[in-house]
Amino acid sequence: MKATAVANANIALVKYWGKRNSELILPYNSSVSMTCDGLWTKTTVEFSPKYSKDEITINDEELKKDEKDILGHLDRIRKMAGINYKAKIVSESNFPVAAGLASSASGLAALSLAASVAVGLKLNEKQLTILSRQGSGSASRSICEGFAIWYHGIKEDGTDSYAECIADKNHWPEFRMLTTIVTEKKKPVGSRTGMAQTVATSPYYEGWLKTIEDDLKQMKEGIKNKDFEKVGSIAEHNCIKMHATMMTTKPSIIYWIPATVEIIHEVRRLREEGIECYFTMDAGPNVKILCLEKDLDEINERISKLEGVKKTIICKPGEGARLEERHLF
Ligand code: PMV
Repeated sequence: MKATAVANANIALVKYWGKRNSELILPYNSSVSMTCDGLWTKTTVEFSPKYSKDEITINDEELKKDEKDILGHLDRIRKMAGINYKAKIVSESNFPVAAGLASSASGLAALSLAASVAVGLKLNEKQLTILSRQGSGSASRSICEGFAIWYHGIKEDGTDSYAECIADKNHWPEFRMLTTIVTEKKKPVGSRTGMAQTVATSPYYEGWLKTIEDDLKQMKEGIKNKDFEKVGSIAEHNCIKMHATMMTTKPSIIYWIPATVEIIHEVRRLREEGIECYFTMDAGPNVKILCLEKDLDEINERISKLEGVKKTIICKPGEGARLEERHLF
C-alpha cells in the first residue's frame, strides 16, 4: 500500500479566486492555467497498520501544525477506499512552499495520485482532478498536462467541477514562464482565508466575476491559436483585477512587496522597448513573467539584475501528474 507520484505546480492565466462551497472547494469562476515543468513536488505515501498516527514530512521538516488540509484529504481518501490505516507521507518540492508559487497545487495533486493508488483506487484523470480539487482547488489543474481549464460547475455535489487539458505540453513549445523568487517566506494570509475575506468584504468581487467569462473565452482562443499577445495581456489584466479585489477587502490584503512592484515596472519597460512579456502573480509577492523562448535570456538577465530578485526559475508547459517507481522512503 505504497506509491509515489510527481506533480508539477501550475500557474493560473485566468485565476480562481473565491469559493461557492468551501467544504467541497467549488469555485465561483472557472480558471485556466499552465502546468509548469520546472516546479515539482514528489510525494511517497504508505498506508500501513504499523503506523499509529499519520506522519507527514515536507522538505525534511516534520509537520506538527497546519496539516489540517492534508489530514482531511487523507481521511477523504481512506473513506473512499474503506480503510482505517494511518499513513506515512514524505514530500519534497524543488521550490519554496507557501510563498505564492502554487505549492499547494503540486503538493495536493501529487498526494492525491500517490494516496489513491496506494489504497487501490483506480481513478481516471477526471476523477483524480475532482479528488485533488477537494484538497486544494488549484490542485485539480496540476493533474493535467500543458494548459488546463478547471470548470466551476453548477452542481451542488461538485461532480461537474473538474479540470481537463485544453492543449498538451507540446502544443506551444516556445511558451515560457520565468518565475522570480523575491522572498521564500511563508505568505501572511493563506489563499483560503484571503479568498473567503474577499468574497465577504470586497465591493469589487462582483465586478471581478462579471469579467471572467470573457477572459476565459479569449484565453482559450489565445492558447489554441498560440496568440502570445492575447494570452499575455489577458493574463496580466486578469491578475491585476484579482489583486484589486484582494486589496479592497477589510482588512486589506496586500501581497506585494517593493521587489514585486520593481518587477512589474521592469516588465512594462521591456515591453516599451519592444520585448514582449507580461506578468502574473498569485496570492504572494513572487512574480511570474510570461514570454517566448526567443526573448527569455534577455528578460532573465534584466530581471535578475533587479534588487530584491533572489532567484529565477524557467518553466515551460509541463507534464501532468504521474507515478514514479522510486520511493522517497
Ligand atoms: O487552490 P489554492 O487555495 O492554492 O488557491 C489558488 C489561488 C490562486 O493561486 C491565487 C489562483 C489560482 O487560480 O491558482
